[in-house]
Amino acid sequence: MKSPLVEEEEPGTVPDVRPVPPKPTMMAMSKPLPVPAQRTAAPVEQAPARIAVRNLEAGYGNHKVLKSINMDVPPRSVTAIMGPSGCGKSTFIRCINRLHEETHGAWSRGEVILDGQDLFHPSIDPVDMRRKIGMVFQRPNPFPTFTIYENVAAGLRLNGFRRGAKLDERVEKSLRRAALWDEVKDRLHTAGTGLSGGQQQRLCIARAIAVEPEILLADEPASALDPVATERIEELLLNLKQDYTILLVTHNIQQAARVADRTAFFLLGDLIEYGPTNDLFTKPKDSRTDAFISGRFG
Ligand SMILES: Nc1ncnc2c1ncn2[C@@H]1O[C@H](COP(=O)(O)OP(=O)(O)OP(=O)(O)O)[C@@H](O)[C@H]1O
Ligand SMILES: [Mg+2]
Repeated sequence: MKSPLVEEEEPGTVPDVRPVPPKPTMMAMSKPLPVPAQRTAAPVEQAPARIAVRNLEAGYGNHKVLKSINMDVPPRSVTAIMGPSGCGKSTFIRCINRLHEETHGAWSRGEVILDGQDLFHPSIDPVDMRRKIGMVFQRPNPFPTFTIYENVAAGLRLNGFRRGAKLDERVEKSLRRAALWDEVKDRLHTAGTGLSGGQQQRLCIARAIAVEPEILLADEPASALDPVATERIEELLLNLKQDYTILLVTHNIQQAARVADRTAFFLLGDLIEYGPTNDLFTKPKDSRTDAFISGRFG
């Protein structure tokens, strides 16, 4: 069964997904830049990797999208994945929770190591693994026929929570953590799709964190939102990183500068540069990174 904890980007549609074949390892601006916040640079730099990506290659059919990516992601931090459209950002984070392999014709090889365990190892059950790795998509996608409460409760029920005070508590806790509780506490049993776009996205974050994953993947979670809603999502990510390891795909260079401890710059499937956000923005080592952050392409 497909994990209900991994929501599809298009609610209500039947995705074209099927398991990948077996081996070989089908695991399956020119505006002035803001000065990056240096909120956690020192501790993050010292922490051992929470996620270690090793020689990760991925693609679709004959099209190789990712070319041997190596990256160490520290715990309790936000890591921004940046780069021009089509460079492989979404493919990369979808490899982290093995959602990539659900796409017909998709393949990958290499390793994604979480706490010392290769997530692509045949002994790993992707459904179990995805309980540890929550995901939020570009467009808010609450379950269309579910109430606000049921959207958050859905994953909890699958994890053994029954009706009652315990479930209510966890739903409230998740909505509070997603900075949504005060806005929805009097309408919990109305449709999730009745919320504004920004509220729906916070509902999706509440749904993702309800089962207490350890990693949160966010693929341009604010790109469909207005500036005020975007700011709330950014504040939320900064708050959540106290407990979560967050990978944030963003087109928005300023957003990476505002939110991320570390930033990775991808170009045509290569990881061109990766390091503390402040370094990448103030003294990029590669001229292509410099061109991108200066708005000269992308
Ligand atoms: N399902 C698919 N089948 C075939 N090719 C795909 C599929 N999804 C993505 N691709 C291709 O893989 C490459 C990387 O796509 P990906 O979605 O990872 O890029 P991205 O960096 O996230 O782009 P964007 O910023 O536009 O979201 C692109 O060339 C894209 O056309
Ligand atoms: Mg993308």
